[in-house]
Amino acid sequence: MLAVLPALLLLLLLSSRPACGVFQKLYCSFSDSCDCDFKPSIRDLEWDLYKNVFGQHLAQDLVSEEVSSFLLNKNPDRPLVLSFHGSSGTGKTLVSTLLGNHLYGSAMSSPFVHQFVPTLHFPSAELVAQYREELKSWVKGNLTACARSVFIFDEMEKMPAGLIDVLEPFLGPSHVVFRTNYRKAIYVFISTAGKEAIHRLVLENRLAGRDRDEIKPSDLQEVVQQSVYSNKTSGLYLSSIIQQNLITRFVPFLPLTRTHVERCVRAQLCQRGSCNRDDVVEAVGGDMTYDPAEGLYFSTTGCKTVAAKISFFL
Ligand SMILES: *[C@@H]1O[C@H](CO)[C@@H](O)[C@H](O)[C@H]1NC(C)=O
Ligand SMILES: *[C@@H]1O[C@H](CO)[C@@H](O)[C@H](O)[C@H]1NC(C)=O
Ligand SMILES: [Mg+2]
Repeated sequence: MLAVLPALLLLLLLSSRPACGVFQKLYCSFSDSCDCDFKPSIRDLEWDLYKNVFGQHLAQDLVSEEVSSFLLNKNPDRPLVLSFHGSSGTGKTLVSTLLGNHLYGSAMSSPFVHQFVPTLHFPSAELVAQYREELKSWVKGNLTACARSVFIFDEMEKMPAGLIDVLEPFLGPSHVVFRTNYRKAIYVFISTAGKEAIHRLVLENRLAGRDRDEIKPSDLQEVVQQSVYSNKTSGLYLSSIIQQNLITRFVPFLPLTRTHVERCVRAQLCQRGSCNRDDVVEAVGGDMTYDPAEGLYFSTTGCKTVAAKISFFL
């Protein structure tokens, strides 16, 4: 009789795990469960997005809105799937990193945040059949270990065609396998696909003399979705994931103006303890390439080369 007591207690602890409080604490003291390490802080995420991401009011709003409503829902009926689009250096990878940082106690180094880079994980297009099997089993294995897993797929435009569709069953609303709840996961796709459509709209907006902040998410959802779906090198070309509407939100990243680039420069200068070097801000801003030729509105590389240029001018 006495021998079953510890087992009973353990069972009680395990089953009452999400109930927080004293049981959660006890459980977490002898477990490395991801629920224990899962410490999302929406307020810190919002603050970091506001402080470190320049010129991206749509991405800031969409990401905080979607992430907070997803996390507030105790029983989401499908995972959160965000797809980031925009030209190079606009902050897509940065925002995905900030998101990863504010979900787990151990930030991006958390074993529950998984990053995939095609050139590293899926380098040759001929091996797509093998990659499909690998990716499926990784995601399945990762979700079995932790329902709250985060999967970030960067540089989707370099993804072998047809690979990402292997995730379709994981992204839908009805997939519960064994004890794993697939619907608590977060997926982030990142690519430059759709940048032309975004660029066109932001330019039109500017030429019409309207404020950048007046661009609404709804102005870009459809066009971005369409151009990603019909672009052969988007990683999502004719993808069943788009057909089945499994992407919660397309998040557009707008091309950056010189003012935004200079804010990136100043922020990085301050981190290096040289906040007051207006000359360097000016020099780096002036050394970027801007597009289109008449007007010179948008930096072609966003804030991407800022760090190297600061070192040069400092
Ligand atoms: C989880 O994903 C990683 C890739 O990020 C993979 O190396 C690992 O084997 C996966 N874990 C399981 C249990 O499948
Ligand atoms: C498709 O996407 C790639 C990657 O962003 C881009 O370089 C290319 O211009 C796009 N093609 C079209 C037709 O929009
Ligand atoms: Mg990037």
